[in-house]
Amino acid sequence: MVGKQDTEPEENMSDIESFKQEQRVFDPPADFVANAAISGMDAYRAMCAEAEEDYEGFWARLAQQNIQWTKPFTKRLDASNAPFYKWFEDGELNVATNCLDRHLTNGNADKTALIFESDDAKVSSVTYRELYERVCKFANGLKSLGVQKGDRVVIYMPMSIEGISAMLACARIGATHSVVFGGFSAKSLQERIIDAGAVAVLTADYQVRGGRQLPLKAIVDEALDMGGCDTIRKVIVYQRTGADVNFNKDRDLWLHDLVDGQKAECEPVPVGAEHPLFILYTSGSTGKPKGVQHSSGGYLLWSMLTMKWSFDIKPEDIYWCTADIGWITGHTYVTYGPLACGATQIVFEGVPTYPNAGRFWDMVQRHKISIFYTAPTAIRSLIKASEADPKTHPREYDLSSLRLLGSVGEPINPEAWMWYYKNVGGERCPIADTFWQTETGGHVITPLPGATPMVPGSCTLPLPGIAAAVVDDAGHDLPNGKGGLLVIKKPWPSMIRNIWNDPERFTKSYFPQELGGTTYLAGDGAIRNEETGYFTITGRIDDVLNISGHRLGTAEIESALVANPIVAEAAVVGKPDDTTGESICAFVVLKRTRPEGDDAKAIAKELREWVAKEISPIARPREIRFGDNLPKTRSGKIMRRLLRVIAKDEEITQDISTLENPAILEQLKQAQ
Ligand code: PRX
Repeated sequence: MVGKQDTEPEENMSDIESFKQEQRVFDPPADFVANAAISGMDAYRAMCAEAEEDYEGFWARLAQQNIQWTKPFTKRLDASNAPFYKWFEDGELNVATNCLDRHLTNGNADKTALIFESDDAKVSSVTYRELYERVCKFANGLKSLGVQKGDRVVIYMPMSIEGISAMLACARIGATHSVVFGGFSAKSLQERIIDAGAVAVLTADYQVRGGRQLPLKAIVDEALDMGGCDTIRKVIVYQRTGADVNFNKDRDLWLHDLVDGQKAECEPVPVGAEHPLFILYTSGSTGKPKGVQHSSGGYLLWSMLTMKWSFDIKPEDIYWCTADIGWITGHTYVTYGPLACGATQIVFEGVPTYPNAGRFWDMVQRHKISIFYTAPTAIRSLIKASEADPKTHPREYDLSSLRLLGSVGEPINPEAWMWYYKNVGGERCPIADTFWQTETGGHVITPLPGATPMVPGSCTLPLPGIAAAVVDDAGHDLPNGKGGLLVIKKPWPSMIRNIWNDPERFTKSYFPQELGGTTYLAGDGAIRNEETGYFTITGRIDDVLNISGHRLGTAEIESALVANPIVAEAAVVGKPDDTTGESICAFVVLKRTRPEGDDAKAIAKELREWVAKEISPIARPREIRFGDNLPKTRSGKIMRRLLRVIAKDEEITQDISTLENPAILEQLKQAQ
């Protein structure tokens, strides 16, 4: 069976029902349609038909039109070793020149590329020419240290012009970057450095978020001190705050010293279209995070196309995607897509609630932002905050510059959608509810803002050429109205190419034999509307949780818990949460007797902090319940479906006849 091994699909049915009943339809505003790159449903259908008729020709045409190739490709799709698909394989390009150099000669050289706003609202900006020079100096610096094509470089940096420059500097010399989100722990960082075999870490002394200085360099030191990172030759440190850090003279180097005196031009290294631009680690259903490997050509193409299709990007737009570069959204929709398209964008260092929950709206007003792209979890928390503090409500700000809104990372519930549409978008901005994943490289199912009638809570229809479908466990198409597995039946240019170091896991996770071995399994459930065929995502079908739009594997959290010497066994499940989408509930058996009362509280606190330190504060369980044991089948398998019900404080109505130790359920229900 594909997906959760011990879960009943019925669990999600109540949500599915509420989505099915959503009747409201919002047409894109007429003036938006009139000026949109893809204008009206007929234009969308014509593109779908073109892709249908000549699938490879469609992508080849777009790849020729959008990318500057140093060597044109003659091959389009190579499916001979499916599912290890290759696109435009014999073509050569440099992704950084596509993001920078092209703008030096197309009239964009003096256009603002990045407007950086720090946590304490200091604003600075760079033009395309200035960014080009910074990246070239950075790239020359890396070269001077011997970093070369094919090397892996870990980037552990805050949201900053330097962080984006670091990614582009790697791309310029053909090094494969692996950005690790600045919230990850030393242990998580160490694991990623080792798996990637990185030669250098690019970091900062500190990051500043919500008025606090948080260490980065010290965490890099801790990660490297843990051992096993023998491939690392250098640690390059961007001085963000200037506060004290330890410095190992043989290994560490300030970024300003590295770039000082470097030439502002750096010959780009051409790479093959399939050359890995980056590896980005993400959670799967088993313990270790997977290094999702992306290409250069197909990935770049997708980042550009979706900027144009889903965001209708125009030269005069002021664009803001609030994601961090540590996530795929920050890769595609902060670094690569907007820059390749010559956009002007905001890069924000801070958090949405500092100095107060009006920060986003204040920034939209001050910078006259026209396209705003954020996560449902942020919207939901700002709804709550604006109820508590009406001064932070969007109506208190002039948001008239906005023309398009986007949502990403998790299902947006219809209530949050409506609030966003009315209060932020003033009922005049389409909302692109973009469904995609680290593995898809960019949007795959989303409304087109100048074409698709929107339904709150539905990501609507696939992009042209995306063969999305809903199938059963055996890969058979399901009729509209019936929930099943979300799959994509044909390869597309920006799809994941491999799991770094683990091709077997790649084929098993994404192209299971049960579905024929060449169909992409997204790992989400979906249902299509009976009349419109619109897709609604019903949640993950594997043991992956989505906490505030961040992806975490239950197995990862469990192994962190059992790594604590006092823990004998742990099972982690997700519990629905109004703000964060899901929250983490851990059931724990200790090696000693089951704690109660204040003792239980103290140990729960200790374990919560332990997980935060082992993985990241994002992974800190909201709730920990202790039992003498966990509910298991006679064969010893933990019955997570029962734990999910207990976590929700609901009555167990499911069949428990295979349960070895029914008495344990009562204990876990009480154990709060
Ligand atoms: O469950 C889906 C959810 O986020 C997962 C992908 O997470 P990640 O790889 O971290 O990428 C997040 C940014 C693209 C998906 O498997 N997801 C993402 N976008 C949506 C969504 N669920 C519903 N609607 C969306 N728009």
